[in-house]
Amino acid sequence: MERRPVLVVDYGAQYAELIARRVREAHVYSELVAHTMPVDEMLAKKPLAIIFSGGPASVYEPDAPHIDPKIFDAGVPILGICYGCQLMAEELGGDVDKAAMGEYGKTSVDVSDASYILGGSPAEQTVWMSHGVQINKAPEGFVTLATSPSAPVAAMADPQRKLYGIQWHCEVKHTPLGQNIIENFLHNEAGIEDNWSPKGLMEEQIEKIREEVGDDQVICGLSGGVDSAVAATLVHKAVGDQLTCVFVNHGLLREGEVEQVQHDFVQATGIKLKTVDASEEFVSALKGVTEPEAKRKIIGDLFIKTFEKAASQIVAEAGEKGAKVKWLVQGTLYPDVVESGGGSGTAVIKSHHNVGGLPENLEFKLIEPLRSLFKDEVRQIGTHLGLPDYMVWRQPFPGPGLAIRIVGEVTQDRLNLLRRADAIAREEMTKAGLDRKIWQCPVVLLANVHSVGVQGDERTYGNPIVIRPIESSDAMTADWFHMPYDVLTAISNRITNECRGINRVVYDVTSKPPATIEWE
Ligand code: XMP
Repeated sequence: MERRPVLVVDYGAQYAELIARRVREAHVYSELVAHTMPVDEMLAKKPLAIIFSGGPASVYEPDAPHIDPKIFDAGVPILGICYGCQLMAEELGGDVDKAAMGEYGKTSVDVSDASYILGGSPAEQTVWMSHGVQINKAPEGFVTLATSPSAPVAAMADPQRKLYGIQWHCEVKHTPLGQNIIENFLHNEAGIEDNWSPKGLMEEQIEKIREEVGDDQVICGLSGGVDSAVAATLVHKAVGDQLTCVFVNHGLLREGEVEQVQHDFVQATGIKLKTVDASEEFVSALKGVTEPEAKRKIIGDLFIKTFEKAASQIVAEAGEKGAKVKWLVQGTLYPDVVESGGGSGTAVIKSHHNVGGLPENLEFKLIEPLRSLFKDEVRQIGTHLGLPDYMVWRQPFPGPGLAIRIVGEVTQDRLNLLRRADAIAREEMTKAGLDRKIWQCPVVLLANVHSVGVQGDERTYGNPIVIRPIESSDAMTADWFHMPYDVLTAISNRITNECRGINRVVYDVTSKPPATIEWE
């Protein structure tokens, strides 16, 4: 079924993705497109409505991104937000000027006409502004709906042409009534009915996968993370035992995670799982390696090699029974698709390692059932499919695992030590109810650093452990999380008491940038 989207045109704002999510929260399907996409291409998607996002440019700058004005005559309802609003005003002949003073942060606006997108608004409300350009006069045909101290036209509407503009960021939570504006636009002005829910998509996907796959066999790699777990469960609902999951245990996961995949996940879903315990191989391949990128490369290469070997066994076993393994499931999410500029089709797992008589290339067709979903939607589906909460809400964890959280050489002893310290930190954070407030919390072992301590009556030389809890929405930028002191105290006491060899616990209070989230 072709789904007609609401297009969110990205003018380079950090908010464009957020707008697309808010549209979906209003139960309307949305897609992000770059502002460089030609208008004809946008219209070819048959959008039900279009939203121009904010952006860092100013409409005056010579290189400021513009829009072909024919979009305004296409009969598609359009909402411009911040830069998008200024762009609309400028293109349609309004008076747009550099504001004497910009407005940044919380601002009070006066609503003079609580109609259209501002239907139901109180006369005064607090909103989140971020602009250095003001619209002095709306274009002909528009009515001004609201003003603020530095925005004579803070909201405008041309109900005839169904064009709307809003100077403030209605998509952020700092604008408490923002979602009403988006819903007014979508439902009342553009007349779009509810057409989207993650659950609806899930049912559609199950049907589609079943049809496409037919009698073929399917393979899916599990990492322990939420995306691959949800993708696998969804495909399993569609094709049952035609799916075999492969879990490569590289020995670099955290305490309890191997059991979660091998026992809890299998129990919750009934999925056929092939586990390859390659932990010793990985640790020996990492012997003597201290350089972070070298660790990543070794782990990446060995992972592919191990996965390919398992996959080729499954292919061979299926072949003996006359069946064909044609499909590979991947847990790709919508932000990955947008960032990589779309495109996809066939995954080629390169087998230049020449393992065990593998063919030159193992070629599978891809199934990516989460391709149109944001992470929060994937979690909703995970819950819906009956996966345990700790799997659905697992915080991001890097593919190379604990190997890049040991600064220095990775050895089995060091892994065991870090695993315990990490488990203690996680237990205390869970106990304090912080799991969903913290984006992720690397616990890092400074294996090559020796700090002096005193334990009992003895002087000790132990290793420091770093706790790095952070807040983030996309891992691109992050702030350090302000952990309550009593939780820090409990973590510190327990780690130094229970983990022999650690005599110091350090709290990392650096944002990203300048520091990255991981230490390596
Ligand atoms: P940084 O450290 O670059 O991390 O601020 C950003 C996000 O990416 C994760 N990360 C990785 N994930 N393989 C992965 O799959 C890696 O090599 C890797 N390095 C960092 C990190 O945990 C954070 O969520």
